[in-house]
Amino acid sequence: MMSLPRKTIEDLDVDNKKVLVRVDFNVPLDKNRKVADDTRIRGALPTIQYLLDHGARPILMSHLGRPKGQVVESLRMDPVGKRLAELLGYPVLTLKESVGPRVREAIKNNPNKVILLENLRFYAGERENMPEFARQLASLADMYVNDAFGTSHRAHASTAGVNDYLPSAVGFLMEKELRVLGGILEDPARPFVVVLGGNKVSDKLGVIDSFIEIADTILTGGGMCFTIIKSMGLGIGQSVIEEDQLEQVSASMKKARKKGVRVMVPVDFVVADRFDKDANRKLVPTEAIPPDFIGLDIGPATVKKYCRIIHEAGTVFWNGPMGVFEWPSFAHGTESIAGCIADSSATTVVGGGDSDAALRQFGLEEKMDFVSTGGGAAMRLLEGKELPALDALL
Ligand code: 3PG
Repeated sequence: MMSLPRKTIEDLDVDNKKVLVRVDFNVPLDKNRKVADDTRIRGALPTIQYLLDHGARPILMSHLGRPKGQVVESLRMDPVGKRLAELLGYPVLTLKESVGPRVREAIKNNPNKVILLENLRFYAGERENMPEFARQLASLADMYVNDAFGTSHRAHASTAGVNDYLPSAVGFLMEKELRVLGGILEDPARPFVVVLGGNKVSDKLGVIDSFIEIADTILTGGGMCFTIIKSMGLGIGQSVIEEDQLEQVSASMKKARKKGVRVMVPVDFVVADRFDKDANRKLVPTEAIPPDFIGLDIGPATVKKYCRIIHEAGTVFWNGPMGVFEWPSFAHGTESIAGCIADSSATTVVGGGDSDAALRQFGLEEKMDFVSTGGGAAMRLLEGKELPALDALL
C-alpha cells in the first residue's frame, strides 16, 4: 500500500512563520567541493520559494553523505548553501551547527536570509532518531514540512521524530514524487513498459514482482539480466550473476508467465575479454556468449527490438543502465535506449540512481516527463512498501 500524505504545505498557515523544511540535499560534490549535480536542490526550489512568497522563514535541513555522527570537514553543507543561493537568487546563511543556542541566535539575527543548518548526520541523534535531537530541531520553528522524498525511506530524527513536536505537511517535491510514482502503479496509460537494468538483480526483485502485477512488458538489461538468462538455462560466460537469487528469479518468471506479462532479455550483447574500458570487444547473440567473455552492454538487435516496444508504449518507466555506460565502448546500449524513451510519445518516468547519471551524460534529462529525485526511496515506493517518513507524517 502506498503511503499518502494527509496534508500538503498549502494546508498549513505558513504566513510569517518559521518553517523547518527537511530537504534532500545529499548531492555529489566534485574534487573542488563544488556541487556536481544540483537536480535535488532545484527540486526543492518551489517549496522554498512558496515559503518566501508567504513571508515565511525557511529553515532548511539535510544530510550530506554518511558521516556517522561526527563532524567530517569535507561533508559540511557550505557548497550546497552557495549553490542554493545562486539558484534561488536570495541570500542563504549556512550554519556550522544544526541545533543549539548559536543556531537560535543566527536565526533571530538574520531575518532576511534562508537558513541552511549544518549536515544533520554530524549528530548521532539523527540516524538513531533520538527524541531529544528531534525535539531540539523542532524547537527552531513553528511548523515542519518534509520535502525530502529521496530520504523518505529513512526513519531519522529529521524525517520521522520531528513530526511528534510540530504541525507538519509534505512539500511540493514530495507531493509530486508520490503523485507521479504512485500514479504509474495505480493507473498507467497502456501498454505499460518497464525498462530495468543496473548491476544487481537482488536490488530489483522487489520491483520486478511489483511490476509483474501491473506492467504489460518488462525489458531487462545491465548486469542484472544475466541472472535471469542463467535461470533460463543459457550460458552467460564470465558475466557476473547472483547464484543465491536464481530460485527467486525463476519463481518471478513463472509468476510473470502466469499473469501474461512479457519479461524480455537481450537477444545480443557486446562482450569483452576482461572488465576494462579498453578490453577487446565482440558482438554475439545471447545464446553464444563465449565462456571466457563478459557481457558489458546490450547489442544493436536488442536496441532495435526494445525500441519498437518502447515506441508503442503508453507509459514507460526506466530504472538502471543497460551496460557500463561510463565507458564509451559500452555506452551505446544505454544511450540508445535512453534516446528511444526520450523520443517516445508515452509518459516517461525515470526512477533515480544511475539512470539519472546516464541521462545527464547523454543530455536527455529534459526530454523525460519526470525524473525522480529518489533512488532507494523510489524503489521502495514502487515495491509497494511503506515509507517510514510518510508514516510518521500520517
Ligand atoms: C539518497 O541519496 O539515496 C538519499 O539521500 C538517502 O541517503 P542514504 O542512503 O545515505 O540514507
